[in-house]
Amino acid sequence: MNKEKRIYSGASPSEVEADLYELVNFQEQGLPMEILTRLIQERLVPHLVRYDRPEFQSLYNFMPEKGALLGAAVALRHNQGVTNWQVSPGGVMLEELCTRAMCGLFGLPANSDATFMYCGTYANQQAVYLALHRHAEQMGFDLSSRGIRGFPHPDRLRVVVSEEAHFSLRHAVRMLGLGEECMIRIPVDEDYGMDVTEIPRQLKKGGQARDIFCVVSTAGTTSTGTIEPIQALAELCKREEAWLHVDGAYGLAFSLLPELSRRFTGLESADSLTWDPHKQFGVPIPSSLLFVRRAADLKRMAIYGEYFNRKDDPEPNPGLKSPPSTRPLSALPLVTTVRYQGLAKLRERLRAPLTAIRKLSEQLEAEADIEVCHTPQTGILCLRMKPPHVPATELDSLQRFIYDHIKQEGRRSISMTRLADRTVLRLVALSPSVTFEALKETISDIRALAGRFSSRPV
Ligand SMILES: Cc1ncc(COP(=O)(O)O)c(C=O)c1O
Repeated sequence: MNKEKRIYSGASPSEVEADLYELVNFQEQGLPMEILTRLIQERLVPHLVRYDRPEFQSLYNFMPEKGALLGAAVALRHNQGVTNWQVSPGGVMLEELCTRAMCGLFGLPANSDATFMYCGTYANQQAVYLALHRHAEQMGFDLSSRGIRGFPHPDRLRVVVSEEAHFSLRHAVRMLGLGEECMIRIPVDEDYGMDVTEIPRQLKKGGQARDIFCVVSTAGTTSTGTIEPIQALAELCKREEAWLHVDGAYGLAFSLLPELSRRFTGLESADSLTWDPHKQFGVPIPSSLLFVRRAADLKRMAIYGEYFNRKDDPEPNPGLKSPPSTRPLSALPLVTTVRYQGLAKLRERLRAPLTAIRKLSEQLEAEADIEVCHTPQTGILCLRMKPPHVPATELDSLQRFIYDHIKQEGRRSISMTRLADRTVLRLVALSPSVTFEALKETISDIRALAGRFSSRPV
């Protein structure tokens, strides 16, 4: 196969290991730059995945956009930390201004605020912590000192999520010492988003007293990109005096598209929101934001250190809004990509892959050998091959066979997941380079592989 056509070398784990070994063969003497550069170019780069290729249709990775690269290069060259004023006055002020501007862009109230986080996983974790903190305050104690022991019945604490919520929320409740048993998982509807009509039944289940302190709506689920209802959950939160968190790690960006804004009705009621600019805004990983509707909420995170973060310091201090003490200048690439492209072009970039996925889905609806699993709301389409010659009992194996072959060939990249207990193939269009034509080519490949399955069942 022509190596140029591949999105990565296609080498096996042992081949990659053999190539990379020389890089970690640490010696007393250093290497000249040219040799080191050649080693990296020859040994490592061929095994890196080319996210800019139209055939990359599997996950949320992205090549940095040109404007973002400018900011990233400056941030890297100056290696600025943005913990506090002393470490980087320019970096700190830029982060402050950027978070305020982002709150405005997403239509959050004047008194909202945000903090840059390493990734969506940590942003979700902090959101659940803030929710628990406020709940403790409602009960009259300080969570940061008493911990969950302060609750009269810690075993009753509950977080409501959908069955399709991202696993980072499981991490969150584990890390908070609540355990996954505290999660009430609401079943999903035919579009694989939370079925809000199920909520009353699920809350009554088991009959025990429950103390719901946090409800999560995933605005753009990981498997299908479905934007779960927000308004109905806002009402539930009001009744239960619970915190509403919107996990928009993937999907929040789409609220910037007027044609999708209806799906985000209720967003203004969210207490907190997660968003990952590193998903489709073309900024280098890692870059995530946690927004809060009331700036004061982030004050719950502050821990002062006498050697550099003093309570009476008059300057802004992003390091008090979330745990990392050493923090990168993630605001700069985000600022430069937005300034370089402009909002109109950014919206076009967001829209193009959605249009491609929707067109593909509409076309595939008419094809007998393919089951389209949901109506795509954003840039993800899950489907299941079901050629007539493969019995229903072997359909899961067929999807796995297709996925494994495509992965091994290295010409394109698709993903695989489980929906309603069935294995499905998943196509992700994140960057505008993933066009309708590129998606159609993938379908042709998938079809050809499905044909081969009949002669070589797994
Ligand atoms: C809905 C959702 N939430 C949270 C996350 C976690 O984000 P990160 O990968 O930045 O930790 C993801 C990641 O794909 C996601 O899809």
